[in-house]
Amino acid sequence: MSAQTAALKGRKIVLGVTGSIAAYKACALCRLLIKAGAEVQVVMTEGAAKLVAPHTFMALSGHPVATDIFKDADKIGHIALSRGADLAVVAPATANTIAKLRNGMADNMLTAGLLAAQCPVVIAPAMNVNMYRNPATQENLQVLSGRGFYIMKPGEGDLACGVRAEGRMPEPEEIVSFIIGILQGGAAPERIGYDPREALPSPQAPLEIGQTRLLPGASGAGLKVVITAGPTVEALDPVRFLTNRSSGKMGFALAEAARARGAKVTLISGPVALPSPAGITRVDVRSALEMLQAVENSLDGCDVFIGCAAVADYRADHIASEKISKRDHGDELTIKFVRNPDIVATVGKLEHGRPFTVGFAAETENGEAHAKAKLASKNLDLIAMNYVKGGDQGFQSDCNELFVYDRDGLEAHLPLQSKQVLAGELADLIFTKYRNAKKD
Ligand code: C5P
Repeated sequence: MSAQTAALKGRKIVLGVTGSIAAYKACALCRLLIKAGAEVQVVMTEGAAKLVAPHTFMALSGHPVATDIFKDADKIGHIALSRGADLAVVAPATANTIAKLRNGMADNMLTAGLLAAQCPVVIAPAMNVNMYRNPATQENLQVLSGRGFYIMKPGEGDLACGVRAEGRMPEPEEIVSFIIGILQGGAAPERIGYDPREALPSPQAPLEIGQTRLLPGASGAGLKVVITAGPTVEALDPVRFLTNRSSGKMGFALAEAARARGAKVTLISGPVALPSPAGITRVDVRSALEMLQAVENSLDGCDVFIGCAAVADYRADHIASEKISKRDHGDELTIKFVRNPDIVATVGKLEHGRPFTVGFAAETENGEAHAKAKLASKNLDLIAMNYVKGGDQGFQSDCNELFVYDRDGLEAHLPLQSKQVLAGELADLIFTKYRNAKKD
């Protein structure tokens, strides 16, 4: 008898299937469980039944499949569903069902059955990466984890921008091993990457002022963060200007990630075609001088400053009050440019009220050496370097790859991924480094 068969033989498993496109993979899971000798009772949500016919699961499990809490009551009652069950597994588990379980809802056969369940419950999330990363979903999972649900880590899948990000339902084989781990009562299976006993107020405990349940996505709780983003636009005359190709996407993603982590965010942006992330203060500027002024106005009480903007290094010494004309200049035009202030260096070198200061370095070659030199010359705490060589990373792209250096050298390599996911990881890294620096 194989180890799988020994662990699952004669066990009663409730398999909850919800309306994710991964519902078809639950067929394979059902088969594996049956093959290993388990008795499987399948419950489907209405959404799941639209994706895979209940008859498929009926044929695989050999039992009627419950989908409607009223219509199917004669086949199997919602309370009876998990009675005597050794374990229930929701695979795939959508964000919607996860939210319902967190709230103790009982509006369909599956949620009602699980509310009455006395057995261990495994959740195998499957959803879009942004839905998965949303603090609402993360908080829901965390609360469920704190209540003793076993939350599996989703697998990685392809994103539209050609990189991989999490959100895929774990493979059926992995789910079976996970279930066996629980049934055998061995070492607790790996949870979702955080320990619910750590730092999180218990779901039942009233919150104290300043406490948050947004952990682990609360690395920025209580912090005031100022971020610059986008290009600057340096006027030459009333209609012409000098600028660059920065889209502002990285700075905006960082602002959103910092806000989602509980920070109070001021986003100072050059002209970009992006909507304001909810819940932040946005200040629109055009030139480097305006950006510096806005930064200085926002620094009071600032804990972390992140210079993400692609600030023009030079501006015209004199902005012509009338359109510069060919008539006046003929075949040659000379414009004198003068250096713009370095905003992140100005903040990094503040003698009083200096925040934890983070810069970016967009490099085409010798990234490490250039980034380290900028870190030192601008007196930064951290610098995030990326290569801008065209292709699918850097300026204007939805994806990026970052190398983060502190004064001791390489702190982290965040591999090529969507700017949203990357921003979340970078925000966690920055806030953790900031808190550690404060402790020293
Ligand atoms: O020196 P370099 O422009 O490559 O440095 C990039 C970093 O410095 C970024 O963090 C950028 O926001 C910041 N910077 C700035 N003000 C400038 C030039 C760059 O804040 N005038």
